[in-house]
Amino acid sequence: MAAPLPFGRLDGRRAFVSGGARGIGAAIVRSFAGARARVVIADLDLAAASELAGEVGALAAKLDVSDATAVQAVVAQHGPFDILVNNAGVDQHAFFTDTTAEDWTKLLAVNLLSVLACTHAALPAMQAVRFGRIINITSEAARLGSKGGSVYSAAKGGVIAFTKSIARENARYGITANAIAPGPIRTPMLEQAVAKGGDRILRAMTDATLLGRLGEPEEVASAALFLASDQAAYITGETLGVSGGMGLGG
Ligand SMILES: NC(=O)c1ccc[n+]([C@@H]2O[C@H](COP(=O)([O-])OP(=O)(O)OC[C@H]3O[C@@H](n4cnc5c(N)ncnc54)[C@H](O)[C@@H]3O)[C@@H](O)[C@H]2O)c1
Repeated sequence: MAAPLPFGRLDGRRAFVSGGARGIGAAIVRSFAGARARVVIADLDLAAASELAGEVGALAAKLDVSDATAVQAVVAQHGPFDILVNNAGVDQHAFFTDTTAEDWTKLLAVNLLSVLACTHAALPAMQAVRFGRIINITSEAARLGSKGGSVYSAAKGGVIAFTKSIARENARYGITANAIAPGPIRTPMLEQAVAKGGDRILRAMTDATLLGRLGEPEEVASAALFLASDQAAYITGETLGVSGGMGLGG
């Protein structure tokens, strides 16, 4: 076995970050690039992805992760990858009875089927070199449920179950698969929810944490960097909450 890289370093490792143009994904891109990984940012928003890529020395690719054929092509073009971060996601705020079958299809496609598609595309190369780190961004909504986010929660719950199964199937290849469950994190996604729901939503979100505040994207990126690192080699199948103690009461 090669000597582990020093703590906080990913020298030369090739990383694919979906939805890396802004928010949590962008913080992960910055942190991985700072750790000297070679990062590909795959995002619907090519302009924002390219701007960030130019800033940190990464590559940008336009990709809709809910299109499995496009995912396969982008991974074939830019891969192989040592690290896969399935981060792209979309939410929706509506009571279940107000949602439609089209909503379910879209939410499941972007939040769950995309994780399957990216993993399916990236895994064979990881298996061939007997190394890989898969990090799936789920949500505390998956573990706690979410009033007004039932379909999103269902998709994110699927991500946790999928992560555990991939961990089981791939341990023998030296591949780990873990999930990160963020609580309320200050990103454009959350800002849009607050713009719609107002200060009441913001207060409810911060009150649900033990620490009584929003998290920052960099705090999720720190967890992703750790799980991608050689120091996390003995951790697999886990879901790490980065949520200020959400769900513990408070
Ligand atoms: N912000 C939070 O409070 C929070 C909490 C729990 C979980 N999460 C999860 O963290 C992840 C990142 O969330 P965020 O808050 O940074 O969101 P965001 O909306 O701020 O950023 C999401 C990024 O994903 C990209 N994206 C969206 N759909 C895509 C698609 N189909 N193909 C490719 N790229 C796509 C967007 O262009 C954007 O760059 C998501 O999976 C989200 O569900 C966020």
